[in-house]
Amino acid sequence: MPQRMPYVGGNWKMNTDLAGATALAEAVAAGAANLLSACQVVVCPPLTYLQAVGKALEGSAILLGAQNFHHQPSGAFTGEVSCSMLKDLGVGVVLCGHSERRHVMGEGDVLINAKVLAALEAGLQIILCIGEKIEQREAGQTDAVNAGQLAYGLAGVKPEQLARVTIAYEPVWAIGTGKTATPIDAQNAHRAIRNEIRHSFGDAAADAIRIQYGGSVKPGNAGELFSQPDIDGGLIGGASLKAGDFLAIVRAAAETGNA
Ligand code: PGA
Repeated sequence: MPQRMPYVGGNWKMNTDLAGATALAEAVAAGAANLLSACQVVVCPPLTYLQAVGKALEGSAILLGAQNFHHQPSGAFTGEVSCSMLKDLGVGVVLCGHSERRHVMGEGDVLINAKVLAALEAGLQIILCIGEKIEQREAGQTDAVNAGQLAYGLAGVKPEQLARVTIAYEPVWAIGTGKTATPIDAQNAHRAIRNEIRHSFGDAAADAIRIQYGGSVKPGNAGELFSQPDIDGGLIGGASLKAGDFLAIVRAAAETGNA
């Protein structure tokens, strides 16, 4: 049985304010302290609050993550921030390919791949988000869409860099909608994703890589989802904004994960 420590991420999206972000980080750090030996945790606040949240997390093993960045190291890219700028603030993890970046901001596979490669080259960990839209699911294309986004996203990634890669399977129709994939449907998608990794990177990499589920994960459904053999935790949006809910989800991962 492969040993994979469960991994839960909080994606705060464009929510909170300075005081709220700091208070949320402090509450999560305090509440998660005794869970972090059994579950890895990252929180991804808005870019403007990274420094304050990083300070609130000092002394905690919770990782600081960024929701977005530019793939070039510096230059005339008005409004953008680079990986090294994020690292200056203590960021260790970045999200790539989130559904809202793909489908709301229009990021395509080529740009997402450039971001993946830039972040890994900069020494960051990444969470690469993939997932199908509802019409693709209804057309039976879930595994094909995931395989395509995975292949594009990870093109050029060196085998030794894969240890810093986590995949988040987030069906687009489940994000922020209150609809969740059934544990069985999610497990089937996760198994297919792991098999794609097996095909491209081999058995050891496939057995080691963490695949989070995302899309309306709540305290009430987290345990059943995370107890599936190929689901290694979750990427949490709405429920990560309430410390109590997020901590209940982290606890579910610590208790039912595959570690
Ligand atoms: P949700 O968001 O938990 O609010 O559905 C998940 C995500 O976007 O990562």
